[in-house]
Amino acid sequence: MNLRTNTLDIAEPVFADDHAERFWRDGFAGPFPLDIDPRRVRDLAERMADIADGRRHSPVYGRHSHRDWHLVDTELEALLTQEAIVEKVIPILGKDLLMWRSKIFHKAPGASAIGWHQEWGLFDGEEIGNSVPALRPAAPEEGIWDLTVWIALDDVTDENGPLQFAPGSQNTRVPWKKVPMTDSAFYDEPFHGLAKEEIVRRTEASELLLDIETTGWLDGVDVAGISRERLVDHLEGRFRGLQAKYTDFRPASVSTATMPAGHFVIFSERTMHGSPANLSDRRRTAVNCRITKSDTLVYPGRLTGEYVDGSNLDVRGHESILVSGSPLESRNVWRLPAA
Ligand SMILES: [Fe+2]
Repeated sequence: MNLRTNTLDIAEPVFADDHAERFWRDGFAGPFPLDIDPRRVRDLAERMADIADGRRHSPVYGRHSHRDWHLVDTELEALLTQEAIVEKVIPILGKDLLMWRSKIFHKAPGASAIGWHQEWGLFDGEEIGNSVPALRPAAPEEGIWDLTVWIALDDVTDENGPLQFAPGSQNTRVPWKKVPMTDSAFYDEPFHGLAKEEIVRRTEASELLLDIETTGWLDGVDVAGISRERLVDHLEGRFRGLQAKYTDFRPASVSTATMPAGHFVIFSERTMHGSPANLSDRRRTAVNCRITKSDTLVYPGRLTGEYVDGSNLDVRGHESILVSGSPLESRNVWRLPAA
């Protein structure tokens, strides 16, 4: 296959909503600069990397998670709700907008690739075998109701695991299948470089693999007597027993979103995307946030007392942030930006 690849250019200042045209054509647009002091970007990068490396527990979710630290860190909230982002989203989704989710995407040196995948807009946890919709759009037949903003907190290079897109792929829903989690697009080998004791600790604290509950996996195992090798075999067997999402997709062309820290891209999750392994000796820390039309019902399970979402997180402490316009779905839990 003749694979065409290119690196995205930093956008020139564009007239009005030229970028919206590019978004609808390619499924993504950018990179664009944020309006922020580079020192603040560096500070945020350090804090987000520390949350990931230190496996910090989120006060919102009561466990280690990379999700929604903007509900904890007001500087992160200010970054994600700033005008430079919102003004780029309005021409695409309209003026009534909720920012409902964020996530840290931290690739340490040597971290694995994330395989090609797309998401059709329900965010139900299908990537780890779940089926609990996080969004219920008001008019699903009218096109997309959500998009993702991906922000580089470190410089993103060809070597350190850049986000990649298959341009134009947002219009085709590619079938996917459930495979053993160890073969899925999202499995990041969790044992590398860890001593047996640390593997045990992380397993019991559900800190081995993001969003996967592993507490109890060592029940009945002779932890003191087992070798590291047999322990890893046992745990890999448990991961293999879980089902996760795999999409067999070969892109016709690839766009690579290299960019300096403090820049962002916007994309539809329907656009096939992924990222190669971090082959460098430098971390690549990024955050994303998801913005939906404010007539979308966020976490519909809340209305029927079902609080655990598709990523196995209890969303009782979650709130969306109205970043533009009016709150059109009155049943949402939302607030205005703090600053
Ligand atoms: Fe994704």
